[in-house]
Amino acid sequence: MASIPEIFQTMSYGPAPEGVGPANEWLEGHGRNFELFIGGEWIAGKGDSFETLNPATGKPVARLAQATDAEVASAVRAARSAQAAWWSLGGHGRARYLYALAREVQKHSRILAVLETLDNGKPIRESRDIDVPLVARHFYHHAGWAQLMEQELQGRVAVGVIGQIIPWNFPLLMLAWKIAPALAMGNTVVLKPAEFTSLTALRFAELCQEIGLPPGVVNIITGDGRTGAALVSHPDVDKIAFTGSTDVGRIIRAATAGSGKKLSLELGGKSPFIVFSDADLDSVVEGVVDAIWFNQGQVCCAGSRILVHEGVADRLVMKLKQRMETLRIGDPLDKAVDIGAIIAPVQLEKIQELVRRGEDEGATLWQPSWSCPTDGWFFPPTLFTEVSPAANIAQVEIFGPVVVLMTFRTPAESVELANNTRYGLAASVWTENINLALDVAPQLKAGTVWVNCTNVFDAASGFGGYRESGFGREGGREGLREYVKWAWQRGRGAGEPVPNGRAMKHQARKRQTVNRKGSTSVRHEQPRGPSTRERVPAPLPPINRTAKLYIGGKQVRPDSGYSLAVLDDAGRQMGEVGQGNRKDIRNAVEAAHKAAGWARGTAHNRAQVLYYLAENLAARTEEFSGRVAMTTGDAPSAAREVELAIERIYTYAAWADKYDGAVHHTPYRNVTLAMPEPIGVLGVVCSDAWPLLGFVSSILPPIAMGNTVVAVPSARAPLAATDLYQVLDTSDVPGGVVNIVTGDGDELARILAAHDDVDGLWYFGSAETSAEVERLSTGNMKRTWVDLGQGRDWSDARQGAGEEFLEQATQVKNIWIPYGE
Ligand code: NAI
Ligand code: MG
Repeated sequence: MASIPEIFQTMSYGPAPEGVGPANEWLEGHGRNFELFIGGEWIAGKGDSFETLNPATGKPVARLAQATDAEVASAVRAARSAQAAWWSLGGHGRARYLYALAREVQKHSRILAVLETLDNGKPIRESRDIDVPLVARHFYHHAGWAQLMEQELQGRVAVGVIGQIIPWNFPLLMLAWKIAPALAMGNTVVLKPAEFTSLTALRFAELCQEIGLPPGVVNIITGDGRTGAALVSHPDVDKIAFTGSTDVGRIIRAATAGSGKKLSLELGGKSPFIVFSDADLDSVVEGVVDAIWFNQGQVCCAGSRILVHEGVADRLVMKLKQRMETLRIGDPLDKAVDIGAIIAPVQLEKIQELVRRGEDEGATLWQPSWSCPTDGWFFPPTLFTEVSPAANIAQVEIFGPVVVLMTFRTPAESVELANNTRYGLAASVWTENINLALDVAPQLKAGTVWVNCTNVFDAASGFGGYRESGFGREGGREGLREYVKWAWQRGRGAGEPVPNGRAMKHQARKRQTVNRKGSTSVRHEQPRGPSTRERVPAPLPPINRTAKLYIGGKQVRPDSGYSLAVLDDAGRQMGEVGQGNRKDIRNAVEAAHKAAGWARGTAHNRAQVLYYLAENLAARTEEFSGRVAMTTGDAPSAAREVELAIERIYTYAAWADKYDGAVHHTPYRNVTLAMPEPIGVLGVVCSDAWPLLGFVSSILPPIAMGNTVVAVPSARAPLAATDLYQVLDTSDVPGGVVNIVTGDGDELARILAAHDDVDGLWYFGSAETSAEVERLSTGNMKRTWVDLGQGRDWSDARQGAGEEFLEQATQVKNIWIPYGE
């Protein structure tokens, strides 16, 4: 043992181990063998069992049950039978339980932290100071949302039974992120922790018992991916919430396609960490430590790509290497350890393999001079320089303590590099120039942007991905949406249609279009004068012309050269429309991307354009009423439909500059700006019901929010939509913002769903195609919104318009900006 003078000489750390006594006692008390928590009771698993190991030693900690399909089913049954009473308890009743859970977590915080570190290998400093306090905070915050639900989420109700599947990197924290909002909103849950790290979830189950949570409200079943898959496919689960790899996210998207289950996915990332030349490099170095060596880099939003301005790159690399030399790796229970153990041999091998590949690709590897412990599974902090942006290590999520560094010259180049990935979970931006930071932040494709900070989280702020990092948010008001539905939405695709009068009549009617091979269209040149307010609108085209497609602000012939006849109510041909195909969709998507400037304009400008659109439609009320009447054979309601369409445009013109964000109260010296942003290019496939109103109601919310649209009008009654070209032209809607491709809606929906440059897709049509749309969307994990053939009453202000549409047209980005010196 070193003497005190010697320690003063070397200034080296002595061991400072956290006590494991109470955790071991708890484990021994259970004979290191755990059961399943179902319906408020502990049930011995009937299937296999498996060991959970301590990653720092490689030794077993306890034995867990692998829940079978039957046990999954029994947990779902327990959750189902508890749900109605849990909902009926009301917001205040639920708030009391959530508050009690928060208190309980705090009371038992030390054992939870120790168990977490034993089971996961993360440093005790992190589990004690970050994970567990955030868990308590999440339950407190959501106790508040339970209390406020009836006032703040009017018109919304619980979804029902939620299946929740979480990863091993933040076991108890992910449990809290899943369970707290679900319970607050009146749902009951079946949660499956990751097979490597189930212990804190089991201890949490006991806390539920201790506070007297009604049996069945929380059920915890252990097991690996097979148990997860059984939960995903169980027919009586109303929603799946998943955090984990993008690969499994894809499997779950496909497995739930068409089931009507709500889905939220929080998946992988390869998050950029952008350093501008004026950044405080010493803070940046500490930032990198938090970005990539926090939790051994096993963090979905880890800042794993340092993008640094060329001028300061060498200095940063030097400072980083110095800092890396001083990082302490070792026993995670040691309070002075910075980096703990990697979760499992399989993960360690994956990291080693990716690092090897990085070297093979020609990147330069640097690791500190010290060596790692050899018991357990450790990997040293690793820096790669001379990395090409397309290299495997620059693109693939490593999920380990490995960071790559690349340089840029201009802010524009930094944004381009930052977005050069299929992911979009988080980003951090380092600069002393707030103007630059706030200019760059909105350009980053990421659900969270941290300015001069990184890896900070709070229950009041939403967290979640863009692009292949998934969809849905956890935390904040935006996270609550995942756990509610609208009161008018009954069932979940089980063929429970919404009574919507005339809309249903349209849907029931057999599709009346016929395919006319090779019919040539009449040349009908539009007077295309300048788009000014003075221009006199041309009258609607005469009956029996062929409406072309509308792409990039121009009327174009369909690639196929085919047209479809459009029949009126009496079965007489009233016109023709082009039969769009894959190529037309491709062109329309391209045009929609080119029109992305629409999002960058002001909301005020978008509102003005939309009011003008309404005004121009109003000027043609009679013509449009005539067109709709011809289609539906119902003149009085046709006039009403046009009136409603005009009103609807007003609604979204009004919303354009009012659906704004929030400043979240995160408990740091921070402002957290929650900004709704457009999704990008949205495909919108319209229903047959209400030819004009349905079309207008479907395309207006996306464009009001700054998206650009590839719209497919009803195949049965497309002329009301194609007549709208001229109104769009005369209303200063820029070319490419609305593209209209007519044809077989289901076929075009499938093409849009599989198209990787389409960022989101709304499909209002049959249950079968809804399922296909969800299944085909997995290529780029685009967000989809389908109605499973249920239909909606477009004339109803709740079903046909409002917040639901705005939420579906946007994604929330949270920007964290610290203040103070
Ligand atoms: P994973 O995605 O396989 O596991 C996450 C959870 O899903 C676990 O509870 C697992 O049992 C469950 N699961 C696995 N297959 C399933 C299926 N077919 N259906 C339903 N549930 C299923 O992640 P894994 O294998 O633990 O790690 C592999 C890689 O995934 C990591 O190397 C890392 O790159 C990434 N990952 C990303 C996470 C994130 O938060 N973004 C978290 C964990 C892993
Ligand atoms: Mg373990």
